[in-house]
Amino acid sequence: MTNQETTMDKLISLCKRRGYIFGSSEIYGGLSAVYDYGPLGAELKRNIKNFWWKWMVQKRDNIVGLDAAILMHPRVWEASGHVAGFQDPLVDCKVTKKRYRADQVYVLRPKDGGNDGLMFAFKEGDDELAARKVKNIAKADASTYEKLALTDIPLREFSRIVGPDMKEPGSLTEPRQFNLMFKTHVGPVEDNANVVYMRPETAQGIYVNFTNVINSTRVKVPFGIAQIGKAFRNEITTENFIFRTREFEQMEMQFFVRPGTDMAWFETWKQDRIDYYRQLGIRQEKLRFHEHGEDELAHYAAAAFDIQYEFPFGWKELEGIHNRTDFDLKRHQEWSGRDQSYFDDEVKEKYVPYIVETSAGCDRTLLTVLVDAFAEEKLENDMRTVLRLHPALAPIKAGIFPLVKKEGLSDIAIKLKDELKQHYPVFYDEGGAVGRRYRRQDEIGTPFCFTIDFQTKEDETVTVRDRDSMQQKRIPIRGVFDYLFSKIDKGE
Ligand code: GAP
Repeated sequence: MTNQETTMDKLISLCKRRGYIFGSSEIYGGLSAVYDYGPLGAELKRNIKNFWWKWMVQKRDNIVGLDAAILMHPRVWEASGHVAGFQDPLVDCKVTKKRYRADQVYVLRPKDGGNDGLMFAFKEGDDELAARKVKNIAKADASTYEKLALTDIPLREFSRIVGPDMKEPGSLTEPRQFNLMFKTHVGPVEDNANVVYMRPETAQGIYVNFTNVINSTRVKVPFGIAQIGKAFRNEITTENFIFRTREFEQMEMQFFVRPGTDMAWFETWKQDRIDYYRQLGIRQEKLRFHEHGEDELAHYAAAAFDIQYEFPFGWKELEGIHNRTDFDLKRHQEWSGRDQSYFDDEVKEKYVPYIVETSAGCDRTLLTVLVDAFAEEKLENDMRTVLRLHPALAPIKAGIFPLVKKEGLSDIAIKLKDELKQHYPVFYDEGGAVGRRYRRQDEIGTPFCFTIDFQTKEDETVTVRDRDSMQQKRIPIRGVFDYLFSKIDKGE
């Protein structure tokens, strides 16, 4: 590894080398912004989903689960506003054929005498690059330029803009709206009558089942419906590994409340959700709230906060918490003609509930967890790469090592491994020096390693080595399962 390699480069390389994440269909050259989870990634992802489900559904009395289909009646997306409104402005570069989200492109324009001077477009975060272009191409100082959003530049001035990846002006097209939903067809004929969409959020599957859940269970408002599932968006710009992809999983919960109590519930859920990330082991100083201003609010939201994480590429959204008011149920009531109101026998009142939504990305949580856990540490005469994953998330819970293969030590170790495998994924390794075996497990985040040595034969104890502190102690071999249970499931 060279010094120039960034944390992201190192993490991406670790993910591929150790089987966390691969590019999709790599043997065919890959498919842009689509990824596959390898053996360790699949375990980590499942553990994240289980952690979320346990936190949101299993531990509570007022939230139930749902698993709705990806394909839904096309009217759902008309009612939800996605057919008309789920679009991003797109600009193309006619020369490089690159595409940009117009709302993520900025322009440096000369402050004075700017009527015929060149302007320099650049992607969000590339301010320094743009300043260098001003110096090299316009032979001017960037301080004499002002920064504007591309969407604020009149179209007649576009011919003077030097595109983000260009040295000459005039290659950017006018922005045009682009709907992010993937379309497909039901049945053999591809015409407009049988268009269906790949859902761009899981939320709508919950709204259209609101009355089914009310009628089939004993839930009463306030209550929530939680769901984990795939969502698809034909994103214009994808970047930063699995941060923004075209196929991803969401973990969403919709909480139905009496109108007027919505803002209090909104505050409750904000606090609950940030507590969740701390519980997941994410460093507190890397988390913050970001409140959506008027111009950022989605069409359905009366209030919205993001929980952001400080990635190596900046502070970015990890989860959205939205007060969606009665927008969704009212729209479905209107478009389907089915009553979506609820009779509240506490207050003897009929109303369409308000909804407070918590919407997290599973893949984005996985990236956050990996970034937050990744560390390179200098040891006395060595370096180690370690993933400090929460034990409940770690794909492999323990390494089981015989100190040497002979004298019956491997037999004892294999027996322990077979017993533990009934309950936890553990990994048996008898190859090479124990120190190297520890390093291999550190790199994939295995929290504990148990070593069977000669003393085991005498007193039936093993050493347990802790990934984070690297401390070792002896415990009875009979106590290994309880040790793991207390660390992984009880979080002690
Ligand atoms: N139901 C509301 C909703 O979908 P959103 O802010 O568009 O709200 C919620 O998405 C979360 O889904 C985001 O905070 C992010 O974690 C995840 N997400 C959205 N688009 C994504 C993408 N293209 N790739 C990966 N995750 C994405």
